[in-house]
Amino acid sequence: MQLNRKRVLTFGTFDLFHFGHLKLLERAAKLGDELFVGISSDKLNFLKKNRFPIMNEYERAHIVASLKFVNSIFLEESLDLKKTYLLRYEADILVMGDDWTGKFDEFKELCEVVYLPRTRDISTSELLQRIKNDF
Ligand code: CTP
Repeated sequence: MQLNRKRVLTFGTFDLFHFGHLKLLERAAKLGDELFVGISSDKLNFLKKNRFPIMNEYERAHIVASLKFVNSIFLEESLDLKKTYLLRYEADILVMGDDWTGKFDEFKELCEVVYLPRTRDISTSELLQRIKNDF
């Protein structure tokens, strides 16, 4: 914790960066004074989904880092390191979309945990489907 400034942390892949990502980050930032974003690495995505993201970790991280309400980004290398990241970056609030409701409650002893409603009708998977159908 630093001098009453509230630091918000969130995690995600942010592949094919879209409106739902933007709204999530915008709302997360408003919950505190600074927003740190963990971008899941290409390797971690491969382990989770058995495929690499369309945009590589450098591209995804660069886009998120360039948003005016994002203060800092880091690469999330492993799902097992959430606690380490929360401690390392001194999180006051962990924010996730409500598709994760309940899944991070174990961290309530370290920081506040907030699940924000997802933006309706858009996701990376849905965008990919839209592109496949339209072209
Ligand atoms: N998110 C959101 N609203 C959406 C899509 C995502 O609020 N419509 C949030 C997620 O809940 C998560 C963050 O944005 O907290 C990063 O989401 P990510 O998993 O990278 O994106 P998705 O579009 O959900 O990707 P996928 O379709 O591959 O699951």
